[in-house]
Amino acid sequence: MSYLVLARKWRPNTFEELTGQEAIARILRNAVSVGKVAHAYIFSGPRGVGKTTTARILAKALNCENGPTPDPCGTCRSCSAITDGSSMDVAEIDGASNTGVDNIRDLRERVKYAAASSQYKIYIIDEAHMLSTAAFNALLKTLEEPPPHVIFVLATTEPKKIPATVLSRCQHLPFRRIALKAIVQRLRQIATAEGIDITDGALEMVARAAEGGMRDALTLLDQVTSFADSITADEVKDLLGLTDTENLAAMLGAVIEGRSRDIVAGIAELTDTGMDLKVYMRDLLTFTRNLLITRIVGEPEGVLDVGESERAVLVSLAKLTSEEHIALLLSDLIKAEPAVRSALYPRVVFEMALLRLSLMHRFTSIDDAFRVLGGESPAPRKLAPPATPYTSPAARKTPPPVEKKTGEAPRSAKPSPAPTPAAVPKPATASGMPLEAVWQAALQRIDKESHLLFFRIQEGEVSCEGGEITILFNGGQSVHADSVTESLPSIRALVNEIAGRPVRVTVDTRESKTVSKTELKEQALRNPLIREALELFDGRIMDVKPANSQGGDHV
Ligand SMILES: Nc1ncnc2c1ncn2[C@@H]1O[C@H](COP(=O)(O)OP(=O)(O)O)[C@@H](O)[C@H]1O
Ligand SMILES: [Mg+2]
Ligand SMILES: [Zn+2]
Repeated sequence: MSYLVLARKWRPNTFEELTGQEAIARILRNAVSVGKVAHAYIFSGPRGVGKTTTARILAKALNCENGPTPDPCGTCRSCSAITDGSSMDVAEIDGASNTGVDNIRDLRERVKYAAASSQYKIYIIDEAHMLSTAAFNALLKTLEEPPPHVIFVLATTEPKKIPATVLSRCQHLPFRRIALKAIVQRLRQIATAEGIDITDGALEMVARAAEGGMRDALTLLDQVTSFADSITADEVKDLLGLTDTENLAAMLGAVIEGRSRDIVAGIAELTDTGMDLKVYMRDLLTFTRNLLITRIVGEPEGVLDVGESERAVLVSLAKLTSEEHIALLLSDLIKAEPAVRSALYPRVVFEMALLRLSLMHRFTSIDDAFRVLGGESPAPRKLAPPATPYTSPAARKTPPPVEKKTGEAPRSAKPSPAPTPAAVPKPATASGMPLEAVWQAALQRIDKESHLLFFRIQEGEVSCEGGEITILFNGGQSVHADSVTESLPSIRALVNEIAGRPVRVTVDTRESKTVSKTELKEQALRNPLIREALELFDGRIMDVKPANSQGGDHV
């Protein structure tokens, strides 16, 4: 007996069995129950998430000998014929190979005749976006006056390529990627039924690699089971060349804490084991995004679609640093990713990108980090003491292990970057100081004396060009502008004192195109709708950067 691959053997036969497409199942079941099935549907979505499967279940629901019923029996003649693809009334047409208009004409001829043995004739057109314009036009004619017993299901991964005229005559049901947990559950059910000995960690890994596609998950499960009788996460990792969460956590931990030696050693280890750095980079990016969300919400359960082992690692790693820091890392990783992907020597680019990011831990504010990433050196006062020689035991292992089991923050954890007042430049000797440094020193004093004023100044854009300091506020910030203007005399006195010479300090409230950095950051980071917030954030953190700070592109 030939081996039937799991993906085919375990194709769901009922709406009940369909995993992760509950909304669609509900809509279709309801349509069948009340007899209001549309003449044409578009099932859109990524590959392997159940479009064809659902089309067949719908066909069974309509043509089951006990039906139409939302719960087709699966065993009657009609149901079994649909399952094994021999039903006369259900035609599966591959849009990719039947792009010609003739096929559709032929189809139009055929739809005139009533269903052979059942109530409905169902045409499932797979990869429908591949049909030619002429074929679409022919199809459109049928859709304009659909015979009562005919149902079309157009399945496509690219609904945007379906002409609007066709779209508007179909009910559009978008299929989603399936949640990791749902995939793991289904895999567990199948593994148990098949007598496959596999750990939860391994299933989680398979599911993660499938990226929301059930077909891919089942294909991967087939692959790993053909190699070993009992499977653990380690085996899956090796077999599929996957990145494991602990390695990602170790690498990101080294970046966060600025342990450049560990980064270099970690990358060497990755290359030695034949890891594709482009894949690793992408995984690191996703992992950092998950870390940011974890840092924001504290407990990612129910917010992030990650397995239990990744969740634990994220929670402990998130304690290492601030939201701001992780956000910056993420936005720069996003920019470095295409550079790594297209690099001739990905290792060099990857190393550079991570080492550069690891410098970030030394700077106390987001602005400093922006400056560094933009290629300038930071204002002197913000340089933390030189990095202490690395002594953690983690240094000796590559990549550094993450201390995650305890659930508490690792001992080596640095608190989120704090100001280092010790480094304030001495006013007496500072007459030749660059204005930028003067301003940074002044700001620090202001912060000590009036945090509110400091905060208000930070809301503006400060420029130290042309030998003068300008604090620019945009239209919506008049409250800040007014109160900073009121304090200008004392700000000027302070600046003059530090600079040892008179410096012009002005407040400008012209309309500015730029929105305040803090405003943006806050909008993004505090938004309770985390998923949306993150999208917003991803899109905007780049805006926050000054135009000359596009770090990452040129690494
Ligand atoms: N939502 C799902 N629930 C359970 N199994 C699924 C689901 N989606 C896909 N599968 C599995 O993947 C295989 C291929 O699914 P299919 O419906 O052909 O995907 P699509 O048409 O979206 O590319 C099915 O035979 C089934 O084993
Ligand atoms: Mg399909
Ligand atoms: Zn039946």
